[in-house]
Amino acid sequence: MKQTENTSPAIELNRLTKRFGDFTAVDGLSLTVRSGEIFGLLGPNGSGKTTIINMISGLSKPTSGEAKVLGHNIIHDTRVVYAALGSVPQETALYEELDAWTNLSIHATLYGVHRSERDMKITDMLNLVQLYERRHSRVSSFSGGMKRRLALARALLHDPLLLYLDEPTLGVDVQSRRAIWNYILDLKKKEGKTVLLTTNYLEEANALCDRIAIIDHGKLVALDTPINLKRRYGDTVMEIETASSVSPQLSAKLSILPGVSEVIQKDKILKVTMSGDELSLTGQLITLVTQETNIKKISQREPNLEEIFLSLTGSGLRD
Ligand SMILES: Nc1ncnc2c1ncn2[C@@H]1O[C@H](COP(=O)(O)OP(=O)(O)OP(=O)(O)O)[C@@H](O)[C@H]1O
Ligand SMILES: [Mg+2]
Repeated sequence: MKQTENTSPAIELNRLTKRFGDFTAVDGLSLTVRSGEIFGLLGPNGSGKTTIINMISGLSKPTSGEAKVLGHNIIHDTRVVYAALGSVPQETALYEELDAWTNLSIHATLYGVHRSERDMKITDMLNLVQLYERRHSRVSSFSGGMKRRLALARALLHDPLLLYLDEPTLGVDVQSRRAIWNYILDLKKKEGKTVLLTTNYLEEANALCDRIAIIDHGKLVALDTPINLKRRYGDTVMEIETASSVSPQLSAKLSILPGVSEVIQKDKILKVTMSGDELSLTGQLITLVTQETNIKKISQREPNLEEIFLSLTGSGLRD
């Protein structure tokens, strides 16, 4: 099913807050997820990602603030919200002792998938995640990646408009991770679904998300497309290896060039941090340095999301 005409944003959070006792897990979070986008909540362990997903899927009640899904308030219109949602929780919550087919069949019944379409839908979904051949195997015999794929198939059974994927590739090997990424990208491209996912893999956020919200201590730290995040917060680091150490005067001269934010000199290595990576600036640096000494090697790095994340939150992504 294509995304139906609905002019409301897919998800709207307005000062959404969750406290557990005196501890604030989600702290006045406001953001909007547009219809048809893949939106990522990126944050370290314990930053509040699962708590956010739980609130907007109706599993946990906000302490204060408001959340709307497809224009419906999650507290007042729980049923409408449920019907629109498919979710893959952090703990996949499959029936381990039952086979793959039965797991999907139970879910189809719960979500009122019509009997006449049930078998066909289950077959389609199992094919999509390449588990049809294993339909009669017990879930307990599946690998982590297969379980994740089955959970994804289950979430898609009732053709939801919106999908919540909490750590869709947690504990999944690289190969299955790529396969899951491709399913997710296809859901958006071919089916027009809106996908909200959480991850603490930067590479995953980068590969999948149209926009990323960086969450730390339950608060929104930054929100933008991966490219803009890099542009806005990223500095390019250029390392210049020289034949002999440059003078402090030269370092000082380099550090006041427009666009240069920091110059660190250590023996024969000059580390120049600059916003953006304009060729003219690189040219100026090289010219000035070569007036004093020969350059042996230059390397320049693209800023990566990990560095941006570190500079924004002051912490790494994983425990
Ligand atoms: N039911 C609860 N009672 C008390 N504290 C809770 C409860 N659920 C979550 N928390 C706390 O709220 C914070 C946010 O937890 P949450 O599970 O949302 O983090 P997360 O970003 O999903 O982390 P992870 O990357 O590890 O999945 C944590 O400090 C957690 O201990
Ligand atoms: Mg979590």
